[in-house]
Amino acid sequence: MTKPIIALDFKHMTEVTDFLKPFDETLFVKVGMELYLQNGPDLIKEIRAMGHDIFLDLKLHDIPNTVKQAMYGLGQLDIQMTNVHAAGGSTMMTAALEGLRASGSKASLIAVTQLTSTSEIMMQKEQLIQTTINHSILNYAALAHEAGLDGVVSSANESSLITEQLGESFLKVTPGIRMGTDAVGDQVRIATPEFARQNGSTHIVVGRSITQDTAPVKKYKTIRKAWESIC
Ligand code: C5P
Repeated sequence: MTKPIIALDFKHMTEVTDFLKPFDETLFVKVGMELYLQNGPDLIKEIRAMGHDIFLDLKLHDIPNTVKQAMYGLGQLDIQMTNVHAAGGSTMMTAALEGLRASGSKASLIAVTQLTSTSEIMMQKEQLIQTTINHSILNYAALAHEAGLDGVVSSANESSLITEQLGESFLKVTPGIRMGTDAVGDQVRIATPEFARQNGSTHIVVGRSITQDTAPVKKYKTIRKAWESIC
């Protein structure tokens, strides 16, 4: 079973080291734009040297050639997972995969469908996508699958639908995870670790519920136990 992925949404590398120090096990962590853009590729080396696996969450979205070349660059880093926005289109996703593999990287490549901070009403009003959010997510997931990607980022609510359409081995990486009493913040489509597991998520991503807790190690272990409690 995969470990919950901890979103290291910090500004400085010192905050990351302080956060990681008390853990007595290797983790799967997510490095997003906030951290990567302010600290650069060296921080990937530092985190890898501590033995942790890395999901580099930069959500690339540009013309196919630009994304291909950028992925070639990211593939030189020792990362285990990275991503693009499915909204960039199937040609862009194919190019991203080509760039990543040309670098020799074996990292999983996944595509963001609809952000977990996007509601159906927002999608319809702002993106002018006149369908249900589930339909839009399934459409993006199918495009990612056809392009040869390893999976998608979506909310846990859609994991069973994606499994039904694209199979169990297609990765469902799901942020927006909250325990019952946690603050929701800017997320909209949230779920508990137990629900995510039951509904077929292959990975959960947890940020503030762990990083902002007064006892992060204890909170991580509680979330991990909840995630692993469902067979
Ligand atoms: O603090 P929280 O648990 O809400 O953090 C979720 C993390 O997952 C953030 O780093 C956010 O950028 C990321 N994410 C997301 N929704 C997506 C893709 C990534 O919340 N669709």
